[in-house]
Amino acid sequence: MRSSRRRFLAGFAALSAVPAMARPARASQARQFMLEPARQQIAPDGYPETNLWCVNGSMPGETLRLIQGDRLRVEVENRLPQPTSLHWHGIRIDNAMDGVPGVTQAPIQPGARFTYDFALPDAGTYWYHSHAQSVEQVERGLQGALIIAEAVSPDIDQDLPLVIDDMRVTAEAQVDEAFAAPHDLSHAGRLGNVLLVNGRLQSEHSVRRGDRLRLRLINTANARIFILGLQGLEGWVMAYDGMPLRTPRAISDRLTLAPAQRVDLFVDVTASEGEDAFLLQFEQDGGYEMARFTVTSGTAVRRDPPAPLAPNPQFPIDLPSARHVDLRMQGGAMAWLTSAQFKGEELEGRELAQRGQFWAFNGTAGRPVDPLITAKLGETIRIRMFNETLFPHAMHLHGMHFSEVHSDGSLGPLRDTLLMRRGETREIAFQAHNPGDWLLHCHMLSHHAAGMGTWVRVLT
Ligand code: C2O
Ligand code: CU
Repeated sequence: MRSSRRRFLAGFAALSAVPAMARPARASQARQFMLEPARQQIAPDGYPETNLWCVNGSMPGETLRLIQGDRLRVEVENRLPQPTSLHWHGIRIDNAMDGVPGVTQAPIQPGARFTYDFALPDAGTYWYHSHAQSVEQVERGLQGALIIAEAVSPDIDQDLPLVIDDMRVTAEAQVDEAFAAPHDLSHAGRLGNVLLVNGRLQSEHSVRRGDRLRLRLINTANARIFILGLQGLEGWVMAYDGMPLRTPRAISDRLTLAPAQRVDLFVDVTASEGEDAFLLQFEQDGGYEMARFTVTSGTAVRRDPPAPLAPNPQFPIDLPSARHVDLRMQGGAMAWLTSAQFKGEELEGRELAQRGQFWAFNGTAGRPVDPLITAKLGETIRIRMFNETLFPHAMHLHGMHFSEVHSDGSLGPLRDTLLMRRGETREIAFQAHNPGDWLLHCHMLSHHAAGMGTWVRVLT
């Protein structure tokens, strides 16, 4: 449907010779999303189907494909036994559509509906997921890819979104329901025991030698940091978290993908006809096959570096005028909180643990009453983050992308999620260009549930 519509637009422009400014009205796509329990075969043959929470009956939900500048309207109906919401991760969205219960909307109660309707200003690879009781709801399946195509398509042969997840299942292939296990909350988060790509154990794709593939890798796992490698595929990193790199970066090594992060790759199929190429996940005990590409005859491998993807609208960062704030990340196993604020009360470590709280930002567990910082529209904000814990964290800012400020003062690529290793201090900066109240939290969903969340306010 997309390609025929785009052909029509191209033909239309050529025939009618309208002036460049008189562009047709932006297109809008509408979807109905029923959130309800459904079953899917996750485990190998011989095991029962897995009971999941799905979008329109599948996990992940439908891959939404739109074009930069489109609007998306999604009518959500909640047929789950819990209140829910959907968050459009990485979209520089209208705040009211951000999908955070208690901050941007009331939760969608069982039996109720909510309509999300928003513009898509940026091209790139994004995703959607539940933002209510997410440690449970994302694990049970409420997640999907959101692909925004560039107005001018890059020169590739196949575009393959790969939603990479892990899930913890029981011996009966059912989702392990110990979502609030204190060990997960206070250590590395909920790690799965099966690795899934697009909701399946097996992910097979047929390619030709010499094809140039666009792989859109999306880490939707609760807590797993993927360490990915390629075999029989060679190419470039084109974008992180939806945002194009100014210069594509040749892939020479393994790719680290923290929870919620995305990476867009352009890779040439260098494996020979009859061989298989692979996307691999490296664990301590070796490489696991995530996706297999069976290679048929094709053409010579191109190997010419691709042109960078067109940049998205820019919101420049002005470091000299920036306001600073510090964020101390505290707690967790082996660096246990002795005390912290929680819901306006100062509590001892043991009382916090009884309430499922193990982590704090600047001495507060859970979302504080006051924002970490209030920014004027257009102001540059710098946040220096100190990981004083003994675990890695995937720090995600809603509503705006940031750049890392390196120690020499240079800016890293735009991202919406930054992996902070244990003990690290890193600084991010962003222009507060999007008004509203925006969460800043760890995307290891057990950590968010157990205290690692704050927010920033951008005034209109
Ligand atoms: Cu991907 Cu606060 O979310
Ligand atoms: Cu964390």
